[in-house]
Amino acid sequence: MSGPPVLRPVRMQPLWISTGTLLLSILLPWPVTGQFHVIGPRSPVIAVVEEEIVLPCQLSPPRDAGDMEVRWYRAHSPGLVHRYPSPQDPAEPQRQDYRARAEVLLENATRGLVSLRVRPVHASDGGEYTCFFESPTYYNEAKFEVLVTGTGMAPHIHIESGNTKGIKVTCTSTGWYPEPEVQWKDLQGLHLTPASETKTIEGNGLFHVQSSIIVDKSSKNVSCVIRNPVLGVEKGARVSVADALFPRNSPWIVGLAVFVALLVFGMIIISILFLRAKKAKGSLKEENGSLKEKHGSLNEKHGELREQYELLIKQKEEIEKENGKLHEELGKWWFYVSIGRIETCSVLCRGRYSGPKNSSPISPDCKGQQKCERRGCLPGSAQVQAAV
Ligand SMILES: *[C@@H]1O[C@H](CO)[C@@H](O)[C@H](O)[C@H]1NC(C)=O
Ligand SMILES: *[C@@H]1O[C@H](CO)[C@@H](O)[C@H](O)[C@H]1NC(C)=O
Repeated sequence: MSGPPVLRPVRMQPLWISTGTLLLSILLPWPVTGQFHVIGPRSPVIAVVEEEIVLPCQLSPPRDAGDMEVRWYRAHSPGLVHRYPSPQDPAEPQRQDYRARAEVLLENATRGLVSLRVRPVHASDGGEYTCFFESPTYYNEAKFEVLVTGTGMAPHIHIESGNTKGIKVTCTSTGWYPEPEVQWKDLQGLHLTPASETKTIEGNGLFHVQSSIIVDKSSKNVSCVIRNPVLGVEKGARVSVADALFPRNSPWIVGLAVFVALLVFGMIIISILFLRAKKAKGSLKEENGSLKEKHGSLNEKHGELREQYELLIKQKEEIEKENGKLHEELGKWWFYVSIGRIETCSVLCRGRYSGPKNSSPISPDCKGQQKCERRGCLPGSAQVQAAV
């Protein structure tokens, strides 16, 4: 069994307070009757936006608070939040923003418990508060903290075709306080970096978040999770983008790509052929040069040979001339020889047939000339003609 935490110290307080009053009555001169303490909420009160909040303050020792004036203040923003018993006092007017929302609860006031109820809670309601109790003879106050928080709506997912990279998925949600955390996760739970993210405070003081991510085919199943850092409450949405929604290459782009590829290929081929032709031309030029050289040297040789030929012709002519001369000479010589022999023969014939030396034998040279007797040695001249 466990009662409300605020009541436990109340039960213990009589002993504690009596010890305190005993001590005070010994040490201090003023009368201790009518003194009290105020105890506020011990841990921060969490107020959820748009809901209601009850802020209790307890008198210690418990005593009727009906005859007291109770006021609530904010620590860091001036003005009265609420006052009991008279909320409207021209000397200290109530803050405008609490006028319609703040209300005192007195149902346990006789036991010293007075509560302030605020509804609906606004985002601006967070901070330090003071509850101030004043009796005709004494006053005391307590401070406590209010934490305002708001968990917004479940995120709204919006899908639109982004650029060529992929699909743009946008997650929006409103009603968060304080500033929430936004996370994108893929199917495996890995965090994804958003392409853009904005958190704006709206008129009611709550945060509106908008976060976008570019989804490609590899991460088409994503979730957007928004988290309240105070309560640890998360709200998320998962979206799965169908393959058909991703941009596809249109046919004319494919055509263009093919055309460009062919163009590049053709240019490469043409340049290769051109280079080859250039190379071939160079080697032909070289060949031409060497052939020209050869032609020149052959021409030279031809000239030389011609000269030699002419020389040889000249020599031949000279030799022929020489030959002619020699023939002539030879003819002469032959003539002389024949004449000589004829003369010899005639001498011999004469000697034999008509001269006194009939005893001398016939010369061997004249052996075939025995007829010379009949012819009178004339055949000899005929022989000389034939030799010439
Ligand atoms: C008054 O006390 C009762 C009983 O302890 C409790 O249930 C109730 O919530 C209290 N009311 C206020 C406004 O604190
Ligand atoms: C993607 O997420 C959806 C829920 O939004 C789920 O039904 C589906 O199976 C997931 N796709 C894959 C491939 O796991």
